[in-house]
Amino acid sequence: MPTLASMAIPEEGPVPFEDALVVIGTYLVSSPQQREEEHADLVATLPSALEANGVKKLRLYQGFWIRDIHVPAAIALQRQFEPRPDDVIVASLPKCGTTWLNALTFATMARKAYPPASADHPLRRLNPHQCLPFLEGLFKGGREAELELLPSPRLMNTHMPLPMVPSAVPGCRVVYVCRDPKDMAVSAWHFLRRLQPDLAFAVVFESVCDGAVAFGPVWDHVLSYWRASTAMPDKVLFLRYEELLRDPAKNVRKLARFIGMPFSAAEDEAGTVDSIVQLCSFGHLKGLDANKTGHLDPLLPVPRDALFRNGASGDWVNHMTPEMASRLDKIVADKMRGTGLTFQ
Ligand code: A3P
Repeated sequence: MPTLASMAIPEEGPVPFEDALVVIGTYLVSSPQQREEEHADLVATLPSALEANGVKKLRLYQGFWIRDIHVPAAIALQRQFEPRPDDVIVASLPKCGTTWLNALTFATMARKAYPPASADHPLRRLNPHQCLPFLEGLFKGGREAELELLPSPRLMNTHMPLPMVPSAVPGCRVVYVCRDPKDMAVSAWHFLRRLQPDLAFAVVFESVCDGAVAFGPVWDHVLSYWRASTAMPDKVLFLRYEELLRDPAKNVRKLARFIGMPFSAAEDEAGTVDSIVQLCSFGHLKGLDANKTGHLDPLLPVPRDALFRNGASGDWVNHMTPEMASRLDKIVADKMRGTGLTFQ
């Protein structure tokens, strides 16, 4: 097997996962069918609900609504994921800024090998999700051995709540991004509509209020990382989408300090932070061919451009009545009471 170095991929990570795969190939430990069959009896006993679009089935596993295809991945992650101390995991609920944080973290962490202003930066030819291995995607498919072949430090991505990846804290570092659940609901509706145009917003809204969304309930997902961040701030960095929008440069500096790679005076002089912010900005990423064409996953026929819709906060006012907004706000506030976390 060729080595990563022989492919002109840096021997130090993070390397764009898509590039590394060219060398590693697909490495099956067990087939997705074997993994599913291994846990089929357990999965069949779990309470179930349909996702808002009525297509995918969710299962209530250890208090979280996990897509049934991801339950075996959650079990495998819980039992087998072995973090390295210098790993970084980007964690979030879908539609809360995952794509942006993937891009910012990759650009920040890999800036020595891939200067952000360079014309051949991986983020100019790859969708941000192609740069990071998606943990549940790999564990679902029995492909976790591919992670072992990546050079350190590795940068990975997950939507799983923290109890599904318990070894991540304190085993490595986690960067988490949350978002106002009202905007998350609106973003999710627009995204799901790309597959099912007649989906009513009210259906998505009710599923968010009930907690039955993939990887949710929203509040339990957010709190799993929030509590870890207050207990171990050097292990979990808790970010907010709205804060990233307000001051991306400040948050990139925070991120760099957290991963142990603060910007040097020379980098400050060279404007490296601004280059990263610009490279990962909504307007820039949205305009790139890598993000305008193709699909997210061969199995998920959603065009990549669905990841770049509006890129703003507060769009909920255009979709919710004041009553709906205060109902969701109250549900969330009740769940967050006493935790030190608020969304208002
Ligand atoms: P909207 O639908 O409100 O526009 P995720 O990546 O977790 O699926 O989140 C998608 C949301 O993040 C979408 O929100 C999308 O437009 C927004 N987004 C994607 N890239 C962004 C960027 N570079 N800057 C700001 N927002 C971004």
